[in-house]
Amino acid sequence: MKVDITYSCAGINWTTITAILKQVGMAHHAPDEHRKAFEASFTTVFAWNKGQLVGFGRAISDGVYQAAVYDVAVVPEFQGQGVGSAIMKHLLKTLPQCNVILYASPGKEGFYTTLSFKKMKTGMALFKNGAAMTERGFTD
Ligand SMILES: CC(C)(COP(=O)(O)OP(=O)(O)OC[C@H]1O[C@@H](n2cnc3c(N)ncnc32)[C@H](O)[C@@H]1OP(=O)(O)O)[C@@H](O)C(=O)NCCC(=O)NCCS
Repeated sequence: MKVDITYSCAGINWTTITAILKQVGMAHHAPDEHRKAFEASFTTVFAWNKGQLVGFGRAISDGVYQAAVYDVAVVPEFQGQGVGSAIMKHLLKTLPQCNVILYASPGKEGFYTTLSFKKMKTGMALFKNGAAMTERGFTD
């Protein structure tokens, strides 16, 4: 489906960001925490259908050769229609020279495979809530 893409954080309703992340089962924080995280990101992408926010994603980066993607989410009714893929393509377009890493939610790896991402053999993470991340299937 065709969505309108915007990049600016201006005018975003951060309560909606929290609500969508919660709705899709991803880590979520207080609205103002998301505002800080998105505003501090190198690229933010928001996808809209008739004025409704239907998905988003963000990348942190040095803008030169390294980047990491976070918080990619699509509202359930709009999943499976190319919205996530459009968000990722717009994010990646702003990072043409960068290696890009991310960690997929368990079960979502296939989505990133369609975008040519490969599984990392030596990825390491120091999570704040390590036990919960193990419980949720992110780490051994
Ligand atoms: C994962 C997510 C972002 C994908 O967005 P989407 O809009 O549903 O995906 P798209 O319709 O753009 O799919 C693009 C391609 O990925 C594939 N794909 C999507 N989800 C997949 C999955 N879980 N496993 C395997 N392939 C998947 C689609 O079949 C499609 O393949 P195609 O190009 O060959 O047709 C979305 O489903 C979502 O928000 N899920 C809940 C939150 C989440 O887990 N986010 C990811 C955090 S890492």
